[in-house]
Amino acid sequence: MYAIRPETSGDHAAVGALHRAAFGDDGVSKLVDDLRQQSGALPVVSLVAEAAGGDPVGHVMLSHAWLDGAHRLIDVMVLSPLGVMPEAQGKGVGTALVAASLEAADRLGAPLLFLEGNHRYYGRRGFVKAASLGFRRPSLRMPENAFQVARLASFDAGMTGTFVYRDVHWRHGVGLYRGSEAMRGDETTAR
Ligand SMILES: CC(C)(COP(=O)(O)OP(=O)(O)OC[C@H]1O[C@@H](n2cnc3c(N)ncnc32)[C@H](O)[C@@H]1OP(=O)(O)O)[C@@H](O)C(=O)NCCC(=O)NCCS
Repeated sequence: MYAIRPETSGDHAAVGALHRAAFGDDGVSKLVDDLRQQSGALPVVSLVAEAAGGDPVGHVMLSHAWLDGAHRLIDVMVLSPLGVMPEAQGKGVGTALVAASLEAADRLGAPLLFLEGNHRYYGRRGFVKAASLGFRRPSLRMPENAFQVARLASFDAGMTGTFVYRDVHWRHGVGLYRGSEAMRGDETTAR
């Protein structure tokens, strides 16, 4: 019912509107605007979900980040943000965007895809709690249970370390988790 395709410049206004509707303010749409300008070892991926002939009702972005490993910096990706128009929620749009994100990150050769989100949602969509694999979260302000990771084809077991966001995410407030209360980690208190 919904097709997933790369975002074009013609989608920018609709994508901004859907994040304002999904998150209730314009913080996430500003993050999206700034992420579009980011360059790095891995490209920004921006995907929309739309019903035939309609405006985008869902959007996800992947961007470059690092895993600060014991011997080197490893190029990885982060999934942020993900938003679906309130009237389109609960119909599989978010699930389809997460699946497309895993495929896209894998195709780009990223070994790991990290995110901050609710394990009850992402745990059924290919992610595990990153701390359970020994990864260290980027900030004590990120609830440990909200720190999620998916291992992709080019992952190898020697890849351990601390997940480090690029500057855009720090400027927009890592740890100031913006999803609805219900989408935060099982524990909302950082520790
Ligand atoms: C979270 C969100 C992206 C999910 O997308 P969606 O298209 O509604 O989700 P889907 O239809 O693919 O999946 C539905 C599942 O998500 C769960 N879900 C939806 N919203 C949820 C919420 N706020 N909290 C927890 N689970 C939620 C549903 O219970 C359902 O669970 P099930 O698989 O056990 O049936 C969307 O609801 C949204 O944009 N929310 C507001 C913004 C936000 O919180 N983003 C999260 C960023 S990490």
